[in-house]
Amino acid sequence: MSPAILIIGSLNTDLVSTTPRLPALGETLTSSGFSIAPGGKGANQAVACARLSSRSSLDVRMCGAVGTDAFAALLADELAASGVDTELVRAVDGPTGTAVIIVDEASGENRILIHPGANGAVSVRSLVEREKALWDGVELLVLQLEVPVETVVWALMQASRRGVKTVFNPAPALAEGLEGCWGNVGWLVVNETEAAILTGVEVQELDKNEGVVKAADGLKAKGCGAVVVTLGGRGCYWCDGASNSGWQGVTVKREGVVDTTGAGDTFVGALAVALMEGKTTEEAVKWAGRAAGAAVKKRGAMGGVPWRHEVEAIAV
Ligand code: RIB
Repeated sequence: MSPAILIIGSLNTDLVSTTPRLPALGETLTSSGFSIAPGGKGANQAVACARLSSRSSLDVRMCGAVGTDAFAALLADELAASGVDTELVRAVDGPTGTAVIIVDEASGENRILIHPGANGAVSVRSLVEREKALWDGVELLVLQLEVPVETVVWALMQASRRGVKTVFNPAPALAEGLEGCWGNVGWLVVNETEAAILTGVEVQELDKNEGVVKAADGLKAKGCGAVVVTLGGRGCYWCDGASNSGWQGVTVKREGVVDTTGAGDTFVGALAVALMEGKTTEEAVKWAGRAAGAAVKKRGAMGGVPWRHEVEAIAV
């Protein structure tokens, strides 16, 4: 049996509008483009793990829930085509999770509004019922926060008890509900907004390197094994020990950025694969940065996730 990466998380239908500018309050604006695509942080990260691994060597297992609408098939097809095992994705009554995404044409930056739908049914109980199938062969667990927080806290504890490595991307961030989980987090990956919410450090402080280090130290002090703060076009900062830390610049050119929606999920998936391959945090962060740099050159969150050969082809 191949070693497995388990992703417990969300599957969404992404309703994406591209706009020449963001509409003001009360204003109606005509978008310049619209698409319906598979997404969700969990599903995107699973697809990133599958597309970025050497396919034969790794079992990438997605656990989550979709609704009974037509969008469920869209997700199942794309995950299967990317090489993700979807045996643990349940169909529950009601709609699949939805994300309304606005992408600013000029910068490629996005704003997202999610409705959990079926993702809300990913309960502890639903996982306990399938415990054997869930953990069989699993060496690394990847989690985000688009499924109930109790499920995430439970899964982190289970993983830790079983000696399974963990990568936790607390997005969208919550100010409460995660108490007691930090000691079970191997690698914590946050962007500036998430770092600010979780630490209380002002988001503006994170514009400066000292602010980033302060937030990362705060998160590390909670008990995480390693912390990675992603900083968009500035690269990222990582620390995995008292004196083992560093900055990773962007290794891919900024020209041609069309959509940043899938960059964070690509980074997390790439990091997870690299850690499974035995890379150090520093090496894994570098590879993840390259993969995320490739993701922003294509449209769509899941659509933007590159394949391994595309990242390997990037000259650095
Ligand atoms: O991280 C991007 C994802 O966030 C989108 O695919 C959307 O579904 C939201 O969950």
